[in-house]
Amino acid sequence: MTPEEKIAMLEKLGTDFNRVKDMDLLMERILRSARAFAGADAGSIYLLDNHRLHFSYTQNSTLESKLQPDAKLIYDCFSLPVDRTSIAGYSACTKETINIPDAYAIDPEAPYRFEQGFDVSSGYRTKSILALPLLAAEQQVLGVLQLINAVDREGRTIPFSPEIQRQMEMFAGLAAAALERAVMTRSIILRMVKMSELRDPRETGAHVNRVAAYAVELYERWAIKHGLPESRIEEEKDVLRIAAMLHDVGKVAISDLILKKPGRLTPEEFDVMKTHAEQGADIFIGHMTAYDRAAQEVAINHHQKWDGTGYPSFVDDQTSEARPRRGTEIPLFGRIVGLADVYDALVSRRVYKEAWSEDDALKVIREESGKHFDPELVDIFLSIRDILAAIRKRYPE
Ligand code: C2E
Ligand code: SIN
Ligand code: SIN
Ligand code: FE
Ligand code: FE
Repeated sequence: MTPEEKIAMLEKLGTDFNRVKDMDLLMERILRSARAFAGADAGSIYLLDNHRLHFSYTQNSTLESKLQPDAKLIYDCFSLPVDRTSIAGYSACTKETINIPDAYAIDPEAPYRFEQGFDVSSGYRTKSILALPLLAAEQQVLGVLQLINAVDREGRTIPFSPEIQRQMEMFAGLAAAALERAVMTRSIILRMVKMSELRDPRETGAHVNRVAAYAVELYERWAIKHGLPESRIEEEKDVLRIAAMLHDVGKVAISDLILKKPGRLTPEEFDVMKTHAEQGADIFIGHMTAYDRAAQEVAINHHQKWDGTGYPSFVDDQTSEARPRRGTEIPLFGRIVGLADVYDALVSRRVYKEAWSEDDALKVIREESGKHFDPELVDIFLSIRDILAAIRKRYPE
């Protein structure tokens, strides 16, 4: 690529990044582009939260190439203090780029050390590192973008050149601007959820993050299987991620007496509770973005059942009678979020029930295949249990 082509590509990337609303999907996009741009084998994003740097997302071509075709890299989330003893910490503290030719030959005078834990557990060999602070508009630190192992044309690991470093500093500015907006969107959604559903300052919104993450994984597999083009899948994942988080916002209209009742609901109380599906959809009526449309679709359909015994009812065009939707009449996003929501509700504690074991929950999901749930989605669900477990670890209660 010529320098002009690189600048043009950077400008386009800035625009692309700003179209992605969801934080997790944006991180995926940022890392993929950053690695392509810098010719890096691997990379990670750390996000600053509560005075710690959280290892939030990672990609690694070498390790991914060793997986089964459809599998994803599963990694542990950990966090670092914001101090000068780690590479990411140093970059966050000083707001400086750190360019290390060899992680195992760091100047002993340097304040930071390379943490070998990841290499030890994965068998990967980190050599060159480029750590870039992600700075928001007011220069506050959002996190650190860390690129690992620049690779030359022959596939040899080389240091990151000063030219690549300069370009990646520009890149980090664009990425940080987009990330700042996505972080804001996520936090507004979580506040909406807190107001509507939890109304409890101790709750964190982990449930909606998990449901949304499960839903995106289910959708991606379904969409690949059905041959949808990659660009469409990327757009829809973003829309679904946001819509899924908002599936229960209609609970804002349900009184605490019912919502927080410690025991089973009476039939009358359950009828009131059921209205949360329509009440949620009403919140998005009259707005025309793809996000509002999807949020409406998910809210009104997430309690439909494949066999037609869910809720709410709609008037059937042919018979003019009101009945719930069934089978593929239920929009795909509704079927997906319905499954993700029940799984998470079962394995979580609620005011009205204890958490179920994973095995008991999976038993219900298998038994309800073709009854409550779309059987095709249940099969996909059962094939990605390791990914679902990693999501649970990522968003603990
Ligand atoms: P939720 O707690 O988020 O549960 C979502 C869905 O997960 C439920 O939809 C149901 O399909 C499934 N689910 C949750 N717990 C169980 C369980 O113990 N067994 C089985 N088989 N399925 C379970 P559903 O039933 O339409 O309920 C919608 C919402 O109504 C629930 O959302 C919850 O907020 C409320 N709710 C339902 N039953 C009760 C209850 O007995 N007491 C109270 N206080 N609230 C309830
Ligand atoms: C869709 O492609 O959005 C719907 C297809 C289906 O419901 O199975
Ligand atoms: C319930 O027990 O609340 C509903 C059971 C189900 O639909 O799986
Ligand atoms: Fe619901
Ligand atoms: Fe829910």
